[in-house]
Amino acid sequence: MKIALACDHGAFEYKEIVKKMLEDMGHSVEDFGTHGTESMDYPDTAGPCAKSVAQGKNDRGIVICGTGIGVSIVANKIKGIRCALCSDPVSARLTREHNDSNVLAMGQRVLGVEIMKEIVQTWIETEFSKEKRHVCRIEKVMQLEEE
Ligand code: RB5
Repeated sequence: MKIALACDHGAFEYKEIVKKMLEDMGHSVEDFGTHGTESMDYPDTAGPCAKSVAQGKNDRGIVICGTGIGVSIVANKIKGIRCALCSDPVSARLTREHNDSNVLAMGQRVLGVEIMKEIVQTWIETEFSKEKRHVCRIEKVMQLEEE
């Protein structure tokens, strides 16, 4: 898969870990930054990252900041994005199965590294269930972007 990755200064460490993890899994990663721990504004990386998924340039995206909240708000502003903020692997699995989420958000300040890696692995490996009830609900969600 082609995966877009972005973080702010508060999550640079986890972004680098996720990047290596995804590459080791055989995925190609487009890194939208940031590239260090100097203070910056998360919309400047999470926005372009999510847009690349919405435009079909990447299959999925992962955005990380201190809490995961700022980057998830940004990603969900982009038309076509269903971003899920996850703090546990069960939510990561269910948001793929039920919501067909195309962007995952996480927080470096609120997650240990091992659980973070488990969330990433689960979210990447879980397919959308394609069950009719979930397809219908997602269509209703996406319709809200047209109103
Ligand atoms: C940065 O200080 C912090 O606000 C950011 O990483 C994130 O937690 C925002 O939601």
